[in-house]
Amino acid sequence: MSHQPNWDASTTEETIHLSDEALLDERCAFLQLTSEDVERVRALKPIFEAVNRAFVDQFYAHLLQFSATAFFLRDERLVERLKAAQLQYFVSLFDARMDGSRVAERRRIGDRHAAAGIEPAWFLGAFNQYIQLAFQQVRDVPPEARGSFEAGLASLMKHILLDIGLTLDSYYARSTMDLRQALALYTQSNTELREFARMASHDLKTPLATISGFCEEFIDEFGQTVPVEARQLIEAALNRTRHMKGMIDELLSMSEAAAQPSQRQRVKLRTLVDEVLERIRLDFDTEPIQFEIQETMPDLLTHPARLREVLYHLISNAVKFMDKSPGRIWVSAHGEGQQVQLAVGDNGPGISDADQQRIFAPFRRLKQHEHLPGHGLGLYMVRQIVEEQGGRIWCTSRLQEGTAFHIILPQ
Ligand code: HEM
Repeated sequence: MSHQPNWDASTTEETIHLSDEALLDERCAFLQLTSEDVERVRALKPIFEAVNRAFVDQFYAHLLQFSATAFFLRDERLVERLKAAQLQYFVSLFDARMDGSRVAERRRIGDRHAAAGIEPAWFLGAFNQYIQLAFQQVRDVPPEARGSFEAGLASLMKHILLDIGLTLDSYYARSTMDLRQALALYTQSNTELREFARMASHDLKTPLATISGFCEEFIDEFGQTVPVEARQLIEAALNRTRHMKGMIDELLSMSEAAAQPSQRQRVKLRTLVDEVLERIRLDFDTEPIQFEIQETMPDLLTHPARLREVLYHLISNAVKFMDKSPGRIWVSAHGEGQQVQLAVGDNGPGISDADQQRIFAPFRRLKQHEHLPGHGLGLYMVRQIVEEQGGRIWCTSRLQEGTAFHIILPQ
């Protein structure tokens, strides 16, 4: 063994893979597993050959006692096959082969276990049986040979740990692969869903415009001649179509914004908050509200237009739903390591625990807000934007006392 990792020439663009031999060298160096250990383990072969078969029977008796492991051993023929495979494994342990085929075989064990759904904890726990057996053998060794046997056991432990490491590699490789597949599927369906929302919104806009056009025409032409109740009905229909148009516009701008690649810039958070407050003062009556904005705020690398939307939604919601006079709305931000923690709080009506779980879902409007304008997409969009920027949002609230939205963004 050279203990010098040599790099496989067949490297991909993203990762550099060690060849199986180089990996083995690296692991052996770390375990301090030397050629002496190999010789000592080979010397133990005759002793263990005599007990391996009985051990395998005892091993399966142990696995069958626990429902978590017995579950995988319901088929007797499978158990017989496994016993043979395991016997072969334990015999091969004492051959102490130190080449790429050992790595491949151990990986295969991990791969088979992972595919069958046997968790690493059971695999590791099961090895304990063999370790106990190994130590029991000391009793049968004459005192004068005990020293070298114990040295052999220490070497055997290194071999077992080497195998466990190699087997776990493939367990994790499989779970990483499963995660990657799930992520790819999630990304794909997310993109498809956004595209669907974009197309559906587009298609809905035209008939909706026609309906409201008919309603307007009806009111213009016949508004004065039909009974008041009839005009009121048409006006109500017109109002509903306008509301629906607002919803569709929001959906459209959301899916279109998501389709554009986000360009990050260094942004002065305090300037962004001031801009948003200016817009809010134009849109709402903010007379009875005191704004407390933290004097200095950290800079941030982000997409300014989208973060502006987030702040606008959170602050304007606080203004819209304010039920105290004077109302108080505060905005604070702190840099912590590589992150910025931003908070928008108010002393408004608060949100119940149950509602806190639901407010970020699309089209969820709180009962008490139904009389106020809105389509139930604002907070959903806020969460989408924050997550798209690699951040996280949550809220804390107490009924009657107020709400705070907390956002963590990478700096
Ligand atoms: C000392 C720990 C263990 C060792 C050394 C070991 C060894 C092996 C080996 C050599 C194979 C054959 C792999 C191949 O097809 O090449 C195998 C497969 C299998 N092992 Fe284990 N095993 C261990 C623990 C366990 C435990 C705790 C269970 C739980 C029930 C288990 C259940 C299985 C099953 C169900 C398969 C067959 C998977 C398949 O191919 O369908 N093993 N194991």
